[in-house]
Amino acid sequence: MTVAVPAWDVLTLHPEMVRACLLTSVLGRAVERGTIHIGVHDIRDHTTDRHRTADDAPYGGGAGMVMKVDVVARALDAVRREDSRVLLTSPAGQTLTQAVASAGATWSHTVIVCGHYEGIDARIETLVDGLISLGDVVLTGGEIAAAAYVDACARLVPGVLGNDASAVEESFADDLLEHPHYTRPAAWAGIEVPDILRSGDHGRIAAWRLAQARHRTQRLRPDLWSDHAARHGLDPSAPALDGFDPAPGWTGPEDPERGSG
Ligand SMILES: C[S@@+](CC[C@H](N)C(=O)[O-])C[C@H]1O[C@@H](n2cnc3c(N)ncnc32)[C@H](O)[C@@H]1O
Repeated sequence: MTVAVPAWDVLTLHPEMVRACLLTSVLGRAVERGTIHIGVHDIRDHTTDRHRTADDAPYGGGAGMVMKVDVVARALDAVRREDSRVLLTSPAGQTLTQAVASAGATWSHTVIVCGHYEGIDARIETLVDGLISLGDVVLTGGEIAAAAYVDACARLVPGVLGNDASAVEESFADDLLEHPHYTRPAAWAGIEVPDILRSGDHGRIAAWRLAQARHRTQRLRPDLWSDHAARHGLDPSAPALDGFDPAPGWTGPEDPERGSG
């Protein structure tokens, strides 16, 4: 039995933007190894005039240009399979989260359509299975959102990351932000890496990491913290450090000099 390789195809007017994000580094190597497939397709290849026109003025007037539904629909037809799920990038979509990425990582074939200018003629929505958003913010085009979506999904496919444990231990697993990391030099700008990380005591290191992850989550993401605390029977208002000192790093929104947004 051949196992299908999880595949993502991105339709865009700016393929070079998406390729730069998705076909280099970790994901690029996974594509080369054949662990995943990522295709990036130029919507303009499906235009029919010699000027390769993919947009036109909006009906009803107004600023900006609208991408043509017939052109985008042909681009979609060229890659769509029976098992495809088609997502349209849109500020109106479901916000990308780790849970959305975890679901997307299990789909066999996903097509992501990128809008540009004022967006795509709304009739394209009759051809898609869902809308995906990077958040309540307006971007110039869907390319960055599509790249973020595919990156977040594809790195969860077994074999894509060098060490699959990294995807299990990182931020949002068990509703916690990740513990801080350090590497050489052990002292920098007068700030020492915590001794415990150089102790070789793996049990204490694991306890320290869990306490730091809880502390960061309690300080920076009280919404996540209350879910984690409830699930583990913890008092959400009790200090989460469990006897350890806070790790060097940003100390959170109560640090007025350094800002929180
Ligand atoms: C300039 S935006 C169009 C914005 C649209 N006129 C509006 O006000 O909602 C062009 C394209 O960028 C993409 N885009 C913009 N913001 C996005 C976001 N937050 N998430 C995902 N895609 C986004 C969409 O594909 C959109 O069609």
